[in-house]
Amino acid sequence: MSDLQLQILKSVNDHDGIESTLAVPEFAKLDPNTLHSNLTSLWAKEMINFKKLETDKWILTKEAEEFLEAGSHEIRLLEEVMKSLDGLKISDVNAKLGQVGKLGQGKAFKNGWISKNDDKLVSKVDKLPEDTAVSQLKTIKETGTLDDKKELTELKKRKLITLTKIVGFSVTKAAKFGLEIVTLETDITSDMITSGKWKEAQFKPYNFNSEGVYPNSGALHPLNKVKEEFRQIFFSMGFSEMPSNQYVETGFWNFDTLFVPQQHPARDLQDTFYLKDPVKAGKPEDKEYWENIRQVHEEGKFGSIGYRYPWKEEESLRMVLRTHTTAISAAMLHKLAKDPKPTRLFSIDKVFRNEAVDATHLAEFCQVEGVMAGYDITLGDLIGFMEDFFSKMGVNGLRFKAAYNPYTEPSLEIFAYHKGLGKWVEIGNSGMFRPEMLEPMGLPKNMRVLGWGLSLERPTMIKYGVSNIRELVGHKVSLDFVETNPAARLDEDLV
Ligand code: PHE
Repeated sequence: MSDLQLQILKSVNDHDGIESTLAVPEFAKLDPNTLHSNLTSLWAKEMINFKKLETDKWILTKEAEEFLEAGSHEIRLLEEVMKSLDGLKISDVNAKLGQVGKLGQGKAFKNGWISKNDDKLVSKVDKLPEDTAVSQLKTIKETGTLDDKKELTELKKRKLITLTKIVGFSVTKAAKFGLEIVTLETDITSDMITSGKWKEAQFKPYNFNSEGVYPNSGALHPLNKVKEEFRQIFFSMGFSEMPSNQYVETGFWNFDTLFVPQQHPARDLQDTFYLKDPVKAGKPEDKEYWENIRQVHEEGKFGSIGYRYPWKEEESLRMVLRTHTTAISAAMLHKLAKDPKPTRLFSIDKVFRNEAVDATHLAEFCQVEGVMAGYDITLGDLIGFMEDFFSKMGVNGLRFKAAYNPYTEPSLEIFAYHKGLGKWVEIGNSGMFRPEMLEPMGLPKNMRVLGWGLSLERPTMIKYGVSNIRELVGHKVSLDFVETNPAARLDEDLV
């Protein structure tokens, strides 16, 4: 127990409580926080109860403190005037008294102490009167206030006093009051049990008002937060999520089904990661589909003349880390062909590309992809739908530019105006899937499918103000950054 706590207990004991610590000089001079923490610890032991008291108190400004030393401005001016027998020349006031002379005049006139005679100030009193300002200030210094409220306002106007709040406490005895403090146990230990000490021990009561320790918990990575926001947009537009947990695909699903010819540069080692072990997969079960794919590439079919090159099985069966989520879309559309109906599907997951790594590119990233199958849907539907989809993220006024994908015709790159950068930036890629992709699956001719894709990283970097991808993905990511960022809301600052 600290000395202060003992002092408090004594004082409470002697006077049967403390009405206000402000009235007890030894407590009044203490910092209220010190007093509060000591009172709290006595209260926790149920020895006392206390209440906070807040009072207004006037305190003297620096100028007022000077008054106490040297007298008020007005009295100093009067003294100077009284010294010169036939009055003080107004032009001499400044030289003799400086600022004091100037500041004291108003009050000295008002008090009727001096008057003006031509170019001189003359005294109207024979002996020095009481320095009222000083005596008032003394009272305020002692009591914190003044009975005469008019004078109080006057002193405040003269900037001699200011109001502050002071904190004190009233203290009363509580159930376990005493002059000695028993140390309260916080835990029951095995020693206490074996020795029987627990029987006499006094335990500290639980403090149900304490704030508790903030629990350590996991946090969603910013990419996952933005992913979640995209998912909600897709769900709100009637989309279902495709299973995207299979990172390894065959060349067949990643490329051939998408009418990507086997010589296409995207299939080069420089662009695609191939597996060493196993190198090859078995053939897909749907033999007819497999044969259709071969034919549409090699000979042409379904009204297409094809690419006319010798299509190789081995190339198609090579295992790859999927380079886009469109591989999943192909597999899902192939399933849809068994029971065709208008369908909306999306996926948001990782893809891998054997690319040069820089501030904005890694060898892996996440793709946000949507596909929409419907009877007789057109390019107009694609454009309209894209406008709808991006407007849900606060991105309006899109522009489209003709592009090329082996699996879509027409293909459109999507642009939005980036206010921060002051230019148009590409925000996605889209197109109408080709008949060479859809018809080998057995989808009806008039069932058209549109699709689009964008990266998850770009909107996340913009949203969370990250300029280097390594701050978002990989071992350099600060955990603090992950833990403290708020949930994502996709709105107007996305591009
Ligand atoms: N797969 C394309 C890409 O990687 C995105 C896309 C999906 C384009 C579907 C058109 C249709 O950029």
